[in-house]
Amino acid sequence: MITNEEFQRIVNYVKSNYGIDLQHKKTLITGRLDNYMNRNGYSSYSQFMSKVEKNPNGSEVRDLIDNLTTNHTYFMREAEHFKFLKDIVLPEVKRSLGTTKDLRTWCAAASTGEEAYTLAMIYKDFFALEDDKWDTTILATDISTRVLQYATEGKYLREQTEPLPDIWRRRYFRNINAEECVVSDELKKEVVFKKFNLMDPLPFKKRLHIVFIRNVMIYFDDETKNELVNRIYDMLVPGGYMFIGTTESIDRAKTKFNYVRPSVYRK
Ligand SMILES: C[S@@+](CC[C@H](N)C(=O)[O-])C[C@H]1O[C@@H](n2cnc3c(N)ncnc32)[C@H](O)[C@@H]1O
Repeated sequence: MITNEEFQRIVNYVKSNYGIDLQHKKTLITGRLDNYMNRNGYSSYSQFMSKVEKNPNGSEVRDLIDNLTTNHTYFMREAEHFKFLKDIVLPEVKRSLGTTKDLRTWCAAASTGEEAYTLAMIYKDFFALEDDKWDTTILATDISTRVLQYATEGKYLREQTEPLPDIWRRRYFRNINAEECVVSDELKKEVVFKKFNLMDPLPFKKRLHIVFIRNVMIYFDDETKNELVNRIYDMLVPGGYMFIGTTESIDRAKTKFNYVRPSVYRK
């Protein structure tokens, strides 16, 4: 059983360190952590939280985040963004970055990798024969160690790749057995997965052209969200794009972003 004090202690810890607002999510917390507590021999949530708070780099913090984040994602999710990218954004990019051929994309909150690999396949297709002249490497980040391991390994159930065109499934995945497949080395090279907490200062030396930050800011409160959106704005090149989830919105009065179409913004 979790006491009110213990519940509040977890809520405060997760909110102040990771921005995730769990104030109204008591059932989610106990539903996801009760078994973990039992399996790992903790007699109370207080005992567990003392360990969490004592060592920010410890395995307890990692397990807390792995359990409390919601990592749902899938290939081609919100496919209208990929179409817009292919039809509008990439032709522009090709014209404007024709001399440097350095396209910098950040897939923030990448979860198990489906979104970043989808982007990589779009880029491969679009740049096609010129692909080896362009650097289109995608940086994909998340706060959960577990999902990043999964993403780096690039192993999926074959049925998870069904939303992808057959030609991509054949070209960029190798079947391991009747159920599973793995992303090809050629595609893996196009994505670098790294752990990064969106509450920390953005880790880029050069400004970005495209940011995908979809279906993560729903877990943050308005103040955290506005602050993050403004940091992303500062990190983009003029004319750079930000994509958020199609069911999400940002407070346009609180940012300098120009609205392009629902869930797409431009500096
Ligand atoms: C629902 S998934 C979204 C995946 C993908 N962007 C999509 O739209 O399909 C949300 C991800 O945000 C990550 N996340 C939550 N808080 C974070 C934070 N403070 N820093 C970085 N990632 C965070 C979670 O670990 C989770 O994998």
